[in-house]
Amino acid sequence: MALYHNIIYGIEKLMNASEKLEGKVALITGAASGIGECTAKLFSNHGAKVVIADIQDNLGHSLSQTLGGENNSTYVHCDVTNEDHVKNAVDKAIATYGKLDIMMNNAAFIDRKNTRISDNETADFERVLKVNVTGVFLGMKHAARVMVPARSGCIISTASMTSGMGGAATHAYTCSMHAF
Ligand SMILES: NC(=O)c1ccc[n+]([C@@H]2O[C@H](COP(=O)([O-])OP(=O)(O)OC[C@H]3O[C@@H](n4cnc5c(N)ncnc54)[C@H](O)[C@@H]3O)[C@@H](O)[C@H]2O)c1
Repeated sequence: MALYHNIIYGIEKLMNASEKLEGKVALITGAASGIGECTAKLFSNHGAKVVIADIQDNLGHSLSQTLGGENNSTYVHCDVTNEDHVKNAVDKAIATYGKLDIMMNNAAFIDRKNTRISDNETADFERVLKVNVTGVFLGMKHAARVMVPARSGCIISTASMTSGMGGAATHAYTCSMHAF
């Protein structure tokens, strides 16, 4: 929990120290709750139009309304492991707001902790890597598809201290965070 607050505090400090986001368009995956939700609110407070991409439809729609509705924010159902969904989320940002300035790959999934590797199911391991690694790859790929021709844009992928140390999280989550 302390780490969670440190991350939000760090993002806030960064935002206060830099230019505001007036006129920018941001797409945030995993934005219906947690760090993604906090970041969506923060970006919106700084003037950005925010596309909330998540699989929690009720929370996503509700957050979009909280941020002022379609003029300021829109929700799109997007499972980051599905390339068509990610492509559609990027295309929705362009169709709704005309461009994409910031892509934040934030969606992640953590499996139940089984300390002994032999107690871990292969399917659970693969699910974590699919969301946390393939999902980030797809976000980068489709953001680049529109940002490179525009010669403008910024891609952020939420990382974790577990990318630099073992033992702090599950086997699969630690592997996934080491991957980027
Ligand atoms: N919480 C921490 O202490 C912490 C620490 C370091 C890094 N992180 C990183 O921060 C990011 C956000 O973590 P959080 O703590 O807010 O997690 P969270 O579980 O609170 O939120 C994750 C969000 O991602 C969404 N999501 C999950 N699977 C998805 C999928 N397949 N497609 C689209 N959306 C999906 C969930 O619905 C949820 O809204 C993650 O990348 C995580 O690795 C978190």
